[in-house]
Amino acid sequence: MFYDTETNAHGLAHDPFKAIVAPRPIGWIGTKGRDGNRNLSPYSFFNAVGDRPKLVMFSSSGRKDSLRNVEETGVFTASFVSRTLLDRMNASSAPVSYETDEFDLAGLTAAPGRLIDAPYVGEAVAALECRVTQVMTLADMHGAPTDSHAVFGQVVGIHIDQSSIRNGRFDLAIADPIMRLGYMDYAGIGPVFELQRPRIKS
Ligand SMILES: Cc1cc2nc3c(=O)[nH]c(=O)nc-3n(C[C@H](O)[C@H](O)[C@H](O)COP(=O)(O)O)c2cc1C
Repeated sequence: MFYDTETNAHGLAHDPFKAIVAPRPIGWIGTKGRDGNRNLSPYSFFNAVGDRPKLVMFSSSGRKDSLRNVEETGVFTASFVSRTLLDRMNASSAPVSYETDEFDLAGLTAAPGRLIDAPYVGEAVAALECRVTQVMTLADMHGAPTDSHAVFGQVVGIHIDQSSIRNGRFDLAIADPIMRLGYMDYAGIGPVFELQRPRIKS
C-alpha cells in the first residue's frame, strides 16, 4: 500500500506513522516554572541528537507546560523510564492543570538537579540534567510554522544509579527501558547483541 500524507487516506483504523518510526525512547521531562511550580511529563518525540557536546531534543505537540517552563527557566531534566516505573510514567502524562505537580500526582520523588534548578525522578536509574540551547517552532515543507516545538538541550550532568552498572557499562538489561511504539503500544528491549563496524581493507 501507499498513501499520500496530504490526504492521509491510509484506509486503516489508525494512522500508522508513529508505529513505523518506532520504537522511540521516552524522555521523562522534569521542569520548573519561574514561580517554582514543578512539572513532569513523558515525551517520546525525544532523542539524543549529538554527542560532542551531548545534545538531546524533545518536541511538544502544541504549547504544553514543559515548553512553557523551559522557555521561562532554560533548563530541564530527562529521566529514564524503566519498566518498574511504567504506571507512574503514564500517570504523569495526565492532562492536568499547570499548577498540578505531576511528581506528587504520580507518587514520585522530585530530586533536585545538582547543576541546574530543575527536578528529576529520584526513582529513575538514570537522568540527564540539561541546559536549553534552542527552542524551535518547526516549519512544514512550505516554511509555514507548525504547532510542533522542538526543545534542544545540552546535557551538563548525568545521574546513574550504581545498581545499573555492570562490568563498567550502563547495563540496559538491568535498567530495562520501556519504549513507545504506535497506537497505545509499548515495548521493552530484547536480547542485547554486539556488532562491529566494517573496516576498510587496504
Ligand atoms: C509515553 C508518552 C509519550 C508522549 N510523548 C509526547 C511527545 O513526544 N510530545 C507531546 O507533545 N506529548 C507527548 N505525550 C503527551 C504528554 O505527556 C501530555 O500531553 C502531558 O500532559 C504534557 O504535559 P505538560 O503539559 O505538563 O508538558 C506523551 C505521552 C505519553 C504517555
